[in-house]
Amino acid sequence: MNSPALISKLPNVGTTIFTVMSGLALENDAVNLGQGFPDFNCDPRLVDVVSDAMKRGLNQYPPMTGIPVLRESVASKILALHDRHYDPAREITITAGATQAIITIILAIVHPGDEVIVLEPCYDSYVPNIELAGGVTVRVPLTPGTFRPDFDKISAAITPKTRAILINSPHNPSGTVWTREEMLKLQEILAPTNVLLISDEVYEHMVFDGEPHESAARFSGLAERAFIVSSFGKTYHVTGWKVGYVAAPAALTSEFRKVHQFNVFTVNTPVQYGLAAYMEDPKPYLDLPDFYQRKRDLFREGLKGSRFKLLPSEGTYFQCVDISNVSDMSEIDFCKWLTTEIGVAAIPLSAFYGDSFDQRVVRFCFAKKDETLLSALERLKML
Ligand SMILES: Cc1ncc(COP(=O)(O)O)c(C=O)c1O
Repeated sequence: MNSPALISKLPNVGTTIFTVMSGLALENDAVNLGQGFPDFNCDPRLVDVVSDAMKRGLNQYPPMTGIPVLRESVASKILALHDRHYDPAREITITAGATQAIITIILAIVHPGDEVIVLEPCYDSYVPNIELAGGVTVRVPLTPGTFRPDFDKISAAITPKTRAILINSPHNPSGTVWTREEMLKLQEILAPTNVLLISDEVYEHMVFDGEPHESAARFSGLAERAFIVSSFGKTYHVTGWKVGYVAAPAALTSEFRKVHQFNVFTVNTPVQYGLAAYMEDPKPYLDLPDFYQRKRDLFREGLKGSRFKLLPSEGTYFQCVDISNVSDMSEIDFCKWLTTEIGVAAIPLSAFYGDSFDQRVVRFCFAKKDETLLSALERLKML
């Protein structure tokens, strides 16, 4: 084939470590704790309400911003949990998952040359999104070892060109959850600036040990400048459905919707009706911390006999471990070895850094059936 040559818009993007590790896991019949999604099914009632919507003929384009009843449910949930009112008509938009929400926000707000601060390690779509918008990524590390935000470094990174900062709590990959004090500190730093906040809260309902999720919605000085992003995929064990939402003040939402209109236009109609019906009962999301905390504890307990050093897992469905007592290998070599020789797949944290920073920490996902976790533990506990 003699296709015309392209100049890549993302020359540094190649096959991701997630694809590599999943391929290796499959080839070696390994237990896959690398991939960040459940290996169990969602509540059958959720499938019923979505298929009911399909059978009722709710299969055509919905409103561009999402069906009103789902936007109202999201607004009521945020009011109940965080005591902030978002107008469903002007401030909530249903998206095709959080990934689409984030690229849409970035395309809507970042002009060529604008700086956007990301806190590394971070989710892999942020940086390519900033590059596609012509922005400049400013990488600020979370504190190695604890993954807490370093506010001196964040303050130092803010310049007159800073358009936005992206935060993610509960945090993938580290499992840390920002405290009220940390959110207040961020609010204080941003107060004298025009910097916008993109708050990736996809794991909002997975915070453990009775602690609250400190959404940006809880802080007036943050909420006024924030796009808050969440994902029904994470909350309801349906990552493949790709439906999420963005909550933001009307002026911000209005710009967001201009881009949303032309990069996705609308989001799956019957799934939206199903989610709206399912959300009438808050129990599934209110029970989620206990559901995942039990799995976290099962996994941590099982690893206690090994030489892995367990890092705290305050939220999300990830458990990070320090491998330095187990092996001298780099994170990536260790993950490959673990998959091929021990039969368990994990993800190196270096995959979440632009410079592949290696601190001898790897991430396991515990959103798995107990039997999957037990079979992984059987193999891991000998290390
Ligand atoms: C931090 C973070 N943000 C966003 C997403 C994407 O969510 P969605 O599947 O709704 O696009 C993920 C999924 O792994 C994630 O971990």
